This record gives sequence, C-alpha cells and structure tokens, in this order.
Amino acid sequence: MDLSGKVAVVTGAGRGLGRAYAEALAAAGAAVVVNDVDAAAAESAVAAIAGAGGRAVAAPGAVGGSEVAGRLVDTAVAEFGRLDVMVTNAGVLRDRVLWKMSDDDFDTVIDVHLRGTFTCARAAAVRMREQGEGGRIILISSPAGQRGNFGQTNYAAAKAGIVAMARTWAMELAKAGITVNAVVPVAATEMTKTIPAFAPVLEEAERGGGPLPDWLRKDEGMGTVEDVAGLIVYLASDAAAEVTGQAIGIGGDKLALWSHPAEKTIAYADGGWSAEAIAASWHDGVGAEPETYGIPAPKAPVS
Ligand SMILES: NC(=O)c1ccc[n+]([C@@H]2O[C@H](COP(=O)([O-])OP(=O)(O)OC[C@H]3O[C@@H](n4cnc5c(N)ncnc54)[C@H](O)[C@@H]3O)[C@@H](O)[C@H]2O)c1
Repeated sequence: MDLSGKVAVVTGAGRGLGRAYAEALAAAGAAVVVNDVDAAAAESAVAAIAGAGGRAVAAPGAVGGSEVAGRLVDTAVAEFGRLDVMVTNAGVLRDRVLWKMSDDDFDTVIDVHLRGTFTCARAAAVRMREQGEGGRIILISSPAGQRGNFGQTNYAAAKAGIVAMARTWAMELAKAGITVNAVVPVAATEMTKTIPAFAPVLEEAERGGGPLPDWLRKDEGMGTVEDVAGLIVYLASDAAAEVTGQAIGIGGDKLALWSHPAEKTIAYADGGWSAEAIAASWHDGVGAEPETYGIPAPKAPVS
C-alpha cells in the first residue's frame, strides 16, 4: 500500500495502538504528525519512525479542546504542506461502576475520547474541505461502545458516541470526498492490561514470552498492536475511497464489519400502543427474543 505524498495526524501516538498506526502509516510512505500528551513518548515514536527511514514530527499536547486540535492540523500544514488523514486515537480509562463513578471520572473520559474526537475531526474537516481533494477521517471506537461494558459508563458512552459521529460525518462529508469510519480495535496494550477480564490472560502470555494463544487471537480477536495497523493503512489509502460510514472491527486474526443498529422486530397497533397492550404482547411479540448486552469475559477453551 503506497501512501507517499499523504500527510497524517495520529493522536495518542506515543505508545500502544497509536504508535503502531503512526509507524505503519510512515512505513507506507505518509508523513506523520505524532501527537501525545506525553511529550517524551511522542518524541520517541518520531525517533523510531525516522530511524526506519520515515518522516514524522512530534506535536505534543492533551487532545480534548479545540486549541490542540487546531495546532495538530496547523503542524501538518506547516511541516508537510497539507493534511490527508486524521486518526483520532488518544484515550484514557477511568473505570468505576456507576454508583462509584465521580463527575471527574466521567468528564475526563468524555473530554479526551468524545470531545477530542469531535475537535480533531472538525479541524481536519475544515482543512480537507479547503484543500478540495477529499480526505480520510479515521475514528477509534471500542467493543464497549458497541455493547456496553461493566464499569465503563464513561468510556462506553464516549465510544458509542464516536460511532454515531462517524455515521453522521460520513453523510455530511461525502460530497467533499472525505470518508469517515470508526475502527473497533482489540489489542494487548497498557490500556487492556488494566481491564480485569483480560489482565490474567495477558500477564500469563507476557510471562511465557511467546505469542498470544490462538483462541485469544481468533475467538476474542485480540493480538498485537501491529495486527490492527493494517486496517488504518487500508482506510487511509486510495483503495478505501468508497468505504465510509462503517464500524470495522479488527484484532488478532479477526477482521469484522459491525452491523448498524436496526429495528429487529416490529408490531403495529391501530391508534398506537397503550402500556396495557405492550404488557399483554411483549414477551410473545416484539420482546420475544431480547438483545444481549455487555461484553462477555474472555474464556480459554477447556483442553
Ligand atoms: N487496546 C485495546 O484493546 C483497545 C480496544 C478498543 C479501543 N481502544 C482504543 O484505542 C485507543 C488507543 O488505546 P491503547 O490501548 O493503545 O491505549 P494506551 O493507553 O496504550 O495508549 C493511549 C495513548 O494516548 C495518550 N493519551 C492519553 N490522553 C491523551 C490526550 N488527552 N491527548 C493526547 N494523548 C493522550 C497516552 O499518553 C497514550 O500514549 C484508545 O482510544 C482506546 O480507547 C483500544
């Protein structure tokens, strides 16, 4: 895949998935603006890219508000002359069950993920529309946003909102030739190590020093950060010009298209539905096969 001549911004690219995205985009020929709140991590990613013969510049700062978003786009233009790809990857977790979640836990996660995605995508859209040559906005969601997840009120809300924004922006930006997709990744990183359901499995794999077990790579779709990067490079490329408004899952050995929410069962009552009429028909009618909710904990197969 050849991305030479293209310029990308990746937020939260100092480590983890974002760093793998930045390195893969640079390896494919793109010039990359590496953002992270941790300036040293951003500089180290830039050094690694330069060491591998790629072009990158660090643009440290905390994603959330419009000032940093504007600065990232300005850096792309000042250093490399244009902007073609915006990857909104920066993120944090503040997991707590609902009744213990503080306002600060909620606001911090919403600010970095949801607001940060909004401000960075908006700044990118303004620039890409001015350039008039289309573009790629690649948002990062999560299985938690698709399904809900125990202890992740703030994160699930932000990540669901990000998919809703991708679908909205795909409509709004279609005429300008700008595609917008949400990637739903799963990978072993510092972030996933903090999730109780994954921690023991990942720690054991790390102690063993070998690759993650096959069941984890296939059944859970969880692997390395590099396993996810191919999708980012594809979506950034000319080959993906027609792909927009999609939520695409990737991790380990798995690539998946998430369905869009749709009405599954429908019933009509002339004049509308009273509470009594719903109660009389719910369990045998529209509610006969309720939807699942939440992400099941990963389970190793019994050998
Ligand atoms: N790892 C997974 O399995 C997984 C699954 C679903 C979604 N995601 C999403 O992928 C993204 C990356 O996750 P990761 O696992 O690599 O996490 P990570 O914690 O390893 O890396 C996140 C990076 O973002 C940076 N960051 C945090 N707040 C920032 C801010 N305000 N501005 C700029 N940078 C900031 C951190 O310093 C860090 O370098 C996140 O959006 C996360 O929600 C990850």
